[in-house]
This record gives sequence, structure tokens and C-alpha cells, in this order.
Amino acid sequence: MSDLLLKNIAFLGGVDTEGKSIRKGAEMKDFTVIENAFLLVSKGKIIDFGKMENAPERATRVVDASGKTVLPGWCDSHTHIVFAGSREKEFVDKIKGLSYEEIAKRGGGILNSAKLMETASEESLLESAFLRLGEIKDMGTTSVEIKSGYGLSLESELKMLRVIKKLKSISPVQIKSTFLGAHAFPMEFREKKDAYVDLIIDKMLPQIADEGLADYCDVFCDRGFFSVEQTDRILQAAAKYNMPPKIHANELDFSGGIQVGVKNNALSVDHLECVGEEEIAVLKNSKTMATLLPSTAFYLGMEYAPARKMIDSGLPVAIASDYNPGSSPSGNMPFVVSLSCIKMKMLPEEALNAATINGAYAMGFEKNAGSITKGKRADFFITKKIPSVDFIPYAFGSSLIESVFIEGQLQ
Ligand code: NIG
Ligand code: FE
Repeated sequence: MSDLLLKNIAFLGGVDTEGKSIRKGAEMKDFTVIENAFLLVSKGKIIDFGKMENAPERATRVVDASGKTVLPGWCDSHTHIVFAGSREKEFVDKIKGLSYEEIAKRGGGILNSAKLMETASEESLLESAFLRLGEIKDMGTTSVEIKSGYGLSLESELKMLRVIKKLKSISPVQIKSTFLGAHAFPMEFREKKDAYVDLIIDKMLPQIADEGLADYCDVFCDRGFFSVEQTDRILQAAAKYNMPPKIHANELDFSGGIQVGVKNNALSVDHLECVGEEEIAVLKNSKTMATLLPSTAFYLGMEYAPARKMIDSGLPVAIASDYNPGSSPSGNMPFVVSLSCIKMKMLPEEALNAATINGAYAMGFEKNAGSITKGKRADFFITKKIPSVDFIPYAFGSSLIESVFIEGQLQ
């Protein structure tokens, strides 16, 4: 007998019977929904689903989901949830008129977080990050990528990555880890930036690879941060250790970040507020996922990425929360989905694909997560009674998620 049967599901969404690993362009509108459905789980995996008339009679555990919607758990492919303290002082500075870049120039921003990181213990970091993981899980996130990048020294970067490794072993949410030593230049390297790049390449990457601490490598390739040349050097070095790029690009300017990311076979390039015809053309000839972070644009009061134009050009798009203490202090994926519809003119189906299957691809989880597919992990959430799937982005700010299951277990 199967472990778990969900029956009378009003809308079972994100169904994929073809095993697609991404949805791009016009396909992003295909978010298959079965009405009046069942879902069957055994040993943590989805083993069957379909119309209620074909549902099995019995299972060890039966959940009646009448009137409710079931969707695959969110795949949040870009976060920085290991950090040592909040930055609401900068929040107030921004309200008073300072820009994100001005705050960074004064030694605030990422450097502020790096200072707090220096003295934080591994235990306290683990405890606070675990709480944040619990918080995003309650909002429906079941797969997540977590970056380092508030260390900016060998010791502190290792400390952050060890915390992420520990989280992988204790959290039901499945996690990928990304080394982001190239997040900002530490103060003492301001006048000798290439020396910091050398430190990353010669000291940090080898030890991180040695301890098996990172799945991917990230660089903040943008105006005032890492140049295209520096990014290229770091990504080429990371490739030797089997750490594909997932990089921050084109948030502040047409930085060349997308081009250098694609050149180095990036799994994803993220942010992309500054995207034109050339960037779209480069992405079209690649396997790189364009990942948009609308809650960052919202929080910083910036232009949103041109999602509509990108999708209409045939590109796949993922959306993620960028949960971090400086530019998006929230991991609320339902809100990210709403923002994508409201501010980037994505259709609900497009935003839902972007937050599930395309997010899964953007962190290498497309084979086991991101859709309701036989053989994938039984990671999903059940909503309250709602009239349609579109109601999820429409009712922005409402808490619609009633329960979350990971590998078939109620969380
Ligand atoms: O993704 N853009 C670069 N890095 C982070 C911000 C980090 C911070 O301000 O602490 C981001 O937005
Ligand atoms: Fe980020």
C-alpha cells in the first residue's frame, strides 16, 4: 500500500508527464493543472496522479484536499540566508535618500555584513540560518540555493560554507551551496583589487574544493564590483574544480556579466535588470537560465528586469527571492510570484513555472524537483480553499499555504 494519498484536490498544478527540464518562451504559459485530482506518494516519491475517478481506494494515510490547490514546492535558486545580523539601519538610510551604491561606498552594505560575520560563531550562524530555512519552508519553499559571500576572507568564507554544509545534513529542504568569495572587495584590498582575486583563486577555491564545500561559484560582476576580466579569471579557475558559475550580473549596469557568464557555461545569470537585445541574443544561444529577482528591485526601488521581453524572445526565465539582509530581507516566494505578475507582466502560469521547474534547473535540481512528475521527490504544498491557481499571485500578501510536504512528510 502507498504511504500517502491526497484526494479530491480541486487543482493539482505544475503537472509534467514529459520530464521537461525547463520551460522557455511560449512554453512558459504551459503550467498544466488537473482539476478534481489525486496524488499518490510512496517512499518519499510521487508515484501516481490523475483524475479522481482513477484514484486508488486506499493508502496508509489519506488527506482530503477538497477545494484546495496542490503545487510543487517552490525552488528558490538564489539566496544568501547565512548571515550574522540584520541591516535595518541601512533601510532607514535608504528611506532618507541614500542609494544602495552610496551605502556600499561608505563601507556599509556587504562589508557591513562581512564585519558582523568575522566574529560570529558557527553555532550562532547555523541557528539563525536554520530558523530562516524554517521560515521559507512554511511559505512553500522545498529546494533552495544558499551562497557564502559575507566572509570575504579565507576563514570566514570557509565558516559560512561549513554552515551551509551542516544545513544540508539537518534540513529537510534540499540545498545547493555556492561559493561567493567575489561578492565585494574587502576594505584592505580596495587599492589592490587583483590581489584579492588572486587570494580567491590561489587560496580559497582549492581549500573549498578540497573540503567539498561548494556546488557552484558566484561572482558579483557589476559596476563598482568585479570586472569582466576578474570574473573570467575566477570562473575559469572554478571550472577546474568542477564548480559551474551561477553569477550576479547586470543589476547595476550593462556590465558584460551576462556575456562572461555564458562564455563560462554558467548554469544561471541572476538579477538582469539591465538587459538589451545583445544580452538576449547571447542568452538565446546558451543553456544558461536567466534568473530574475523582483523582490530586490522592489526593495531597492529599481527598474525591474524586462521579463516580458525576454520571454517573448523565446528565453526561459526563473524567479528567486535573493533573501539577504541588504537588498531583499525576505524569502517570501508567493510574494515574488505576485511581484513577477504585477510588476514584470508575467502571466500567473509563467511565474509559477519560473518559481518551480525553471528554478529547479537553475540549481541543478530539475531531475528530482520542480514539477509533479512520477519519480520526483514528493515536495509540494497544499493551499487553503481557493477558487483558482491564478488566485495565488492575485491575492498578494495573503498566507494561502496551509501545509507543506517534503519527501512525502508533513512539515
Ligand atoms: O544579490 N547584488 C549583490 N549582492 C546581494 C546583496 C547583498 C547585500 O546587500 O548584502 C544581492 O542583491
Ligand atoms: Fe544575490
